[in-house]
Amino acid sequence: MTTGAPRAVTEAVTVLVPTFNEAGNVGELLRRLGAALPARLSSCEVVFVDDSTDDTAEAIREAARTCPYPVTVIRRREPVGGLGGAVVEGIRAAGTREPGWIVVMDADLQHPPELVPDLVEAGARVGADLVVASRYRPGGSRAGLAGGRRVAVSRAATWLAKGAFPRLLRGISDPMSGFFAVRRETVATTEELRPLGYKILMELAVRCRPASVTELPFAFQDRFSGESKSSAREGFRFLGHLTTLRTSAPWARMLVFGLIGLTGFLPNLLGLHLLTGAGLHYVPAEIAANQLGVLWNFLLIEVLLFRDRRRHRHWADRVGRFALLANADLLLRIPLIALFVGVLHLEVLHATVIALLTTFVLRFAATEALVYLP
Ligand code: GDD
Ligand code: MN
Repeated sequence: MTTGAPRAVTEAVTVLVPTFNEAGNVGELLRRLGAALPARLSSCEVVFVDDSTDDTAEAIREAARTCPYPVTVIRRREPVGGLGGAVVEGIRAAGTREPGWIVVMDADLQHPPELVPDLVEAGARVGADLVVASRYRPGGSRAGLAGGRRVAVSRAATWLAKGAFPRLLRGISDPMSGFFAVRRETVATTEELRPLGYKILMELAVRCRPASVTELPFAFQDRFSGESKSSAREGFRFLGHLTTLRTSAPWARMLVFGLIGLTGFLPNLLGLHLLTGAGLHYVPAEIAANQLGVLWNFLLIEVLLFRDRRRHRHWADRVGRFALLANADLLLRIPLIALFVGVLHLEVLHATVIALLTTFVLRFAATEALVYLP
């Protein structure tokens, strides 16, 4: 697997490894990195960013004693942003002012440590800013992706991401990969990075816009020890992450806000049907069904649109403010229509359309400013 002259790379390389309960893996990882790195990289270090609840940090310190390169462990007090947040914190600690590379990899040996020098050498050789280890290039494989369901989910996520960012992800066959090398200066703007969960490469490729990207194939291995920390929750996080990235422009956020609003008719009508069916008078039924629609919209907006902005307020505060604005929208609409018809002499239909659009834009702006901004 090794190619090129020994110590071909003289720039400083930081190998960044996020860990969550990997006590059974870090010893083997450091051993294999020790066999692979110093022979081919003249300056390298390994930085772990650890959110573990087991004794991973101690296991790292123990194994580091016999390492031929410096090893640092950053213990995070708050695991903000999960895996992606840990990587951003590691980038900050590694430093982005000096020339050189940061290589991000998993601790569980699904990413072959021997490939680290290959990634950096490939980047240096072709002058790329980002080198992705891809499971989908000829010669690569995803053997370690256990189960047909995970293969299908990974494929669907890849298509979604590439569909959302056809230009920015054009040269990347595997935007879901967690194994890549990036030049330090390319990721210097870490304040702008707000990754959610696992897809840190997608975040970097979209926000840092590396000028040139290259890929190397690799075979995704089986886990050495322990189990994957990925769950169904990561799936929702990914969808929220993708929407957040895609809707950095206000018009795009407004569009998604409107589309989510439209889907609210479904629970609204269903609630109305059930409540009137149960014998409730249509006026209280309308009011209750409307709240059902509001709640539905709130949940979707929380999960998809403003996922990264929820921390500014307590959830009860958010739901209260959101419901207040949604109901204010309904209450404002009737007098607005009356105004358009009575004073501006518009036709009722035109007046209704204009009132709907006006209150929609107002509600979007107010929701963003009053519910999801600090
Ligand atoms: N610090 C920190 N905090 N590390 C974490 C966290 C967290 O919340 N969650 C997971 N990690 C670490 C794990 O300890 C491991 O070193 C690495 O991140 C990957 O976690 P796994 O749980 O092994 O992920 P996976 O194998 O399911 O997914 C991997 O492969 C996917 C490709 O299918 C990751 O590399 C994904 O990014 C990748 O998309
Ligand atoms: Mn893994």
